[in-house]
Amino acid sequence: MPIGSTPPPRTPVAPPARTPPASPPRAPVPPAGGKPPAAAPSRPHGKSVRPASRPEWLALKAHGGKLMPTHLRDLFKTDERRGTRLCAEAIGTGIYLDYSKNRVTDETMQLLFKLLAASEVTQKRDAMFAGAKINSTENRAVGHVALRMPKSGMFNVDGRNVVPEVHAVLEQMMTFAGKIRSGEWRGNSGRRIRNIVNIGIGGSDLGPVMAYEALKAYSQRELNFRFISNVDGADFHEVTRDLDPGETVFIVCSKTFTTQETLTNANAAKQWVVTTMRDPKAVARHFVAVSSNLDEVKKFGIEPANMFAMWDWVGGRYSMDSAIGLSTMVAIGPENFRALLSGFHAMDSHFRSAPPERNLPMLLGMLAIWNNNFLFGAETVAVLPYSNYLKRFPAYLQQLTMESNGKHIDLEGMPVAFETGPIYWGEAGTNGQHSFYQLLHQGTRLVPSDLIGFCQPVDGSSVEQHDLLVANLVAQGEALAFGKTQEQVIADGVPAAMAPHHVCDGNRPSNTILCEKLTPQTLGALVALYEHAVFVQGVVWNIDSFDQFGVELGKHLAKGAAAEIAAKGGKSTKDSSTSALIKRYQRFRKAV
Ligand code: F6P
Repeated sequence: MPIGSTPPPRTPVAPPARTPPASPPRAPVPPAGGKPPAAAPSRPHGKSVRPASRPEWLALKAHGGKLMPTHLRDLFKTDERRGTRLCAEAIGTGIYLDYSKNRVTDETMQLLFKLLAASEVTQKRDAMFAGAKINSTENRAVGHVALRMPKSGMFNVDGRNVVPEVHAVLEQMMTFAGKIRSGEWRGNSGRRIRNIVNIGIGGSDLGPVMAYEALKAYSQRELNFRFISNVDGADFHEVTRDLDPGETVFIVCSKTFTTQETLTNANAAKQWVVTTMRDPKAVARHFVAVSSNLDEVKKFGIEPANMFAMWDWVGGRYSMDSAIGLSTMVAIGPENFRALLSGFHAMDSHFRSAPPERNLPMLLGMLAIWNNNFLFGAETVAVLPYSNYLKRFPAYLQQLTMESNGKHIDLEGMPVAFETGPIYWGEAGTNGQHSFYQLLHQGTRLVPSDLIGFCQPVDGSSVEQHDLLVANLVAQGEALAFGKTQEQVIADGVPAAMAPHHVCDGNRPSNTILCEKLTPQTLGALVALYEHAVFVQGVVWNIDSFDQFGVELGKHLAKGAAAEIAAKGGKSTKDSSTSALIKRYQRFRKAV
């Protein structure tokens, strides 16, 4: 069968669209296991229409059905300029997006822009930038964009411009970073600090780790940066086992300063420092904190002067450019950190001003909605950075995207009638090519991919080696889109009986994000691109992208489980499986 004109029997798979649940009216869903909110959440934007009832949504559904048999080969064949037309650049950020290898036509894009307009994305974007409490379930402003505003910027939270506070904390960070980098900050025994260990989890870890790895080439190489997040004591042990506490500073990052994992690790670190240095006063020279909870920080023994503030209007997964990025600033220096912020801000400005057809976050967000809700029902998105420095970028994006948009209840408290946040995952290219790309090319599932690359290397790698890396990036986009037909396979000498095993159907969508160079500024712009794409999707789905109540249940149950594990005997309050697991664990733990 000539692949390319007729869709193959099994791949690319178009999973059946999720059937919307029976139509409303439905009662709002009460919060599981928690107290009902004291008051109805504030709704700054008035009553919204349910997304799947919008005429624009229905038009896209119908259009998706019609476009299903179309192959990217045909779309490229009938429009020679497609590859230079379906792309956009965020001027001043060094970021270029080629979205031509998505299964979209001009009509698709027009319909997506109509849905964007009907969902009031620009109005809600403006409300976010104006400091409105768009995190309505928590009645909070969403202010990460204030973290990268210039001094002259304005971001009002409850009628107060918070930008001066942001800059005051930045100054404090710069002073601290300068002292560590110059060697002026000394440990308790007068020794120079050589190791900086960030203790935090979730947004208080993933951003700092990712940024450190991404910008390692810009870091002060004689300083050692390490990160502890897991409550598994192995993490603490492996990170500290070859360190000298006298030369180590811990940055305890926790917005709430109540997170079990972080506090457990911070206490382990305190004990290690105090016992090894035989001086309780050592805490003052070896610990600083980033938090919004001064009382708990003081209780821990960290001097208020060594606390770097953050605020409840910054979400953990949106905080790598706040004081949570202190380790990043120490690593790359204040000037480079300012460049990082300017990259974030440049993308913010682009998001606020570019028309939808040239607006990168809007394009990326709407294309994700297209693949997820209308064309394929694609369940996952692969993030494939062709830069070894970005090896932690997929993990960072997992929290940003999945903690933000992994929601099934909308802003009215009703179950949504469609799929929301897809599963993000990935690995640096070219490593992934030799593990899971097989499934991307010939598997039964359809996985849209974001291929991310850079025109210039930052390290000492030769031009030839960098050319090879980028050649692999573009080749993968090409292979995913166009595949290899049966005719081509046979022409290559493969026996007809074996040909089906060699055929790649293609027609698998991808975005290519090609940046000039991995600089601090580009990294800021790239992260802001995804932050805003997540925002766009959340607005269209009418969900709150800024809360994360789903993670609370596990935290609560872990406390109960810990109490049962510690208790000697007594009646279990758990189900038979959980209680048997606890008993078995107790038995074997004792044996050890
Ligand atoms: O459990 C989820 C979470 O609340 C994340 O949203 C956050 O990034 C992380 O925990 C860490 O929280 P904190 O900075 O308060 O320790």
